This record gives sequence, structure tokens and C-alpha cells, in this order.
Amino acid sequence: MDKNTITITDNRDGKTYNFDILDATVGPSVVDISTFYKKTGMFTYDEGYTSTASCQSKITYIDGGAGKLMYRGYDISYMANEKTFLDTAYLLLNGELPSKEKLEKFSLEMKKRSYVHEGIKKLYDSFPDYAHPMAILSAGVSALSTYYFKHLKINTPEEYKEMANRIVAKVPTLAAMSYRYSNGLPIIYPDINKGFTENFLYMMRAYPHEYVELKPIEIKALDTIFTLHADHEQNASTTAVRNLASTMAHPYAAISAGIGALWGRSHGGANESVIRQLEMIASVDNVDEYIAKAKDKNDSFRLMGFGHRVYKNFDPRATVLKNIRNELMDELGISSELVEVAEKIEKIALSDEYFIKRGLYPNIDFYSGLILQALKIPKEMFAVIFVIGRTPGWIAQWSELTQQKNIKIARPRQLYTGPIDRTPK
Ligand code: ACO
Repeated sequence: MDKNTITITDNRDGKTYNFDILDATVGPSVVDISTFYKKTGMFTYDEGYTSTASCQSKITYIDGGAGKLMYRGYDISYMANEKTFLDTAYLLLNGELPSKEKLEKFSLEMKKRSYVHEGIKKLYDSFPDYAHPMAILSAGVSALSTYYFKHLKINTPEEYKEMANRIVAKVPTLAAMSYRYSNGLPIIYPDINKGFTENFLYMMRAYPHEYVELKPIEIKALDTIFTLHADHEQNASTTAVRNLASTMAHPYAAISAGIGALWGRSHGGANESVIRQLEMIASVDNVDEYIAKAKDKNDSFRLMGFGHRVYKNFDPRATVLKNIRNELMDELGISSELVEVAEKIEKIALSDEYFIKRGLYPNIDFYSGLILQALKIPKEMFAVIFVIGRTPGWIAQWSELTQQKNIKIARPRQLYTGPIDRTPK
């Protein structure tokens, strides 16, 4: 018998079925069950895909046990410490890191494509004050398809490149506009002389005819946040993007769906919850009480920003961000009660048996919320920042699926548990 197979026995009738095992470059192998229904007449059941690989991918690798995350084979700490977000975006979109010349060209293209059609302003005008920026951004990305309707079918590498560059370049402008509109602030156009991340921060903060100071450490901190969020293999929003791609939907619709999925508080909203919780704890004197609540089995309270479904030893993104947070706070001279509360929680939790035993370490959201707050980015924009970072990852995943030879539309089956034959005879 072929060793690279698995045999399943149906104990009801003793029948056996063989399935191929496919090996990964690194990480768990998978059992190819694509013929399972045909062979056995049954479906497999795995709510939340906890044991299911939904695709083959060459983009991002995570080893939760070892605290490892790689984009196209490059370690996340190398990307965050040695490279910029534009390097990362280029790598995800094109499979290779850019040379100096290619990076310069890419950066120039990002600047040139950062302007959006003036018609978008009319769309944004129609939203009420205080509309959530995620809702506005999702509508804005979807609306891009109306301006580029002649370019919705992507057939050649050139068409892919143009579409990918267009979306990555315009999302920060749409994102900053979403914030300005929802707060009744004047729109700030992109500044062609500013780099990608600097430009976004500028569009968030500037006022017409007023000088705005953007410190290099602030730009570096935000750029690192974008890099750390750029892809995370088959998470909920990426799965949403891939599901749309499988129907041959155009990328604007797919990215807009990704934004919708990311808006959910179990996905992109966690760093906002960290800040809200720190504000609720409010004082270092209250920390012990809340740590006790987090450990109490009869209390549903959880420490936000601790624990992760995949990373059980440490979150490699959090390690990078902790250093950036310290650097940023030192340089900006920020020392708020909130930061002290966060530091005390971190110190206690890292040495407490309850958290150590369960592998509960600070995750990326624990640090990113504090950094974004120090950058004066309002809480409702936190998920929007995540979108800017994740956009190249979504496009790369969209492209990987649509370039496959035999694209199968995503169409899971179900275990039906409802009533039958209720129609009156
Ligand atoms: N505070 C206190 N206890 C916790 C926490 C926490 N933040 N997280 C998990 N635990 C405990 C659970 O009570 C459980 O204890 P038990 O074994 O005694 O019953 C044990 O640790 C395992 O918890 P699970 O919920 O089974 O772990 P899971 O891997 O399913 O959950 C999750 C991971 C959802 C992230 C969880 O740790 C959590 O709710 N954290 C707080 C929210 C948060 O920070 N989310 C952001 C995640 S990062 C991201 O999405 C980008």
C-alpha cells in the first residue's frame, strides 16, 4: 500500500477508504478528502475550519507553537526591522523583494495612483455625520469598481499589476477621507512628496495651510504596524476574499468583502477593545482586581490583548511591537496612566502561573492599540489601519486563487438538522 495515504474504516459496515496525504514544504501535511463524498456518500464536518486547509498557498506561513510568521519565506522580524511596508507589499504582490530601483518605481507609482476620482467625494457626502469609517471605506473601495469598470477582468500580469497598485495606493486615501468625512473635517489631498505611510498620517492630521509635524518615529511605528498586519494566511477576512475570488468576482468586490469581515469585533476590532478595557481599568490601583477577575472561572471577564488561537508561546508580531511602543513612548515623552496600567498588567500576567500555564501572552493587539493612541489615531480608525496593512495580502491571495488552473467555486456542504416534508399533502 502507498505509504502516503490514510485509511478510514466505517465501523458500521467495516468498509475502508483510502485518501492521499499531501505534504507541505513545512508544517502539517493534509489529507486530500476531495473525493470523500464520492467514495463514502458522506460529508466531513468541521465548523470554523479548525482542522481544514481550504487551499494551497505559497504566500504566508505560520507556526503557532514556535511563534513563527513568514511572508513568502521571510521572517516577520526581518521584514519589520529591516524593511518597509512598501517592501512588504511588493513582496506579497510579486513574490520577490524589490531591488532598490524597483522599490523606487513602486513608491513613485503609489504616489501617482494615490489620488481618487473627485466623484468619490459626492458618494462620501451622502453619508451621515459620525458614520463609521469602516462602512465608508468599504463603500469607497466597492465604488472604485465603477470608475475602473473597463479594467474589472484581470487576464494579464500587467493588468494584475495595475489593479494591485491602484488598490494599494488608493486605500489609504479612501481611509483618511473616511475619517475626515465622518468627523466633518476638510479633506486633505495626498502629497506627492511624501512616502506611503507618511502620506497617510499627513492626510489624517493636516489642516489646509497649516504646518503639520510628523516625527520619523511616528512614521516608523505606523509603517511597522502596516507591515505586521500585511498577511496572516487563511484568517476570516482572507477566507472571505478568497470565497469571492472563487466566484470570479472582481477584486474591488472581494476587498470590500474582506473589509466587512475585518470589521467584526472578533477579528479586526480587538485592539480597540484593549484601549476600552484599559480606560475601564483606569488606574494602576485597580489592576490586581481585574487580574483576579480574568482568572476567576465564574467571571466572563477576559484580559483583552492576551492569548491567541494560533500562537501559544508568543506572538512574534507582539515582540516587534513591544520594542516600537517603548521607543515611541520614550521619544514622544508619553507617560499616561493608561500606559502605566498596561505595563502593570503585562508585568503581572507574564509572571503569573494562570497565564503562563495557558500560554496567554500579550498579542499584537495589546501593543498596537497603545501605539495608535499615541499617534493620535481615534479608536474607530483602528480597524481601518488594519485594512491598509492587510490590503496587499488580500490582493495576493485573490490573485493566487484566480491564477489556479481549476478554480472551484467555494461551496461548502452542511449537516441538515431542520424539519422535512411539512408541506400539506
Ligand atoms: N484572559 C483570561 N483568560 C483567558 C484569556 C484571556 N484573555 N484567553 C484565554 N483564557 C483562558 C480561558 O479561560 C481558558 O481557560 P481554561 O483552560 O481554564 O478554561 C484558556 O485560557 C484557553 O482559552 P480558549 O478560549 O480556549 O483559547 P482560544 O485559543 O480559543 O482563544 C482568544 C484565543 C479568543 C484570542 C482568547 O485568548 C481571547 O479571548 N483573548 C482576548 C481577546 C483578544 O485579545 N483577541 C485578539 C486576538 S489576536 C487577533 O485576533 C489579531
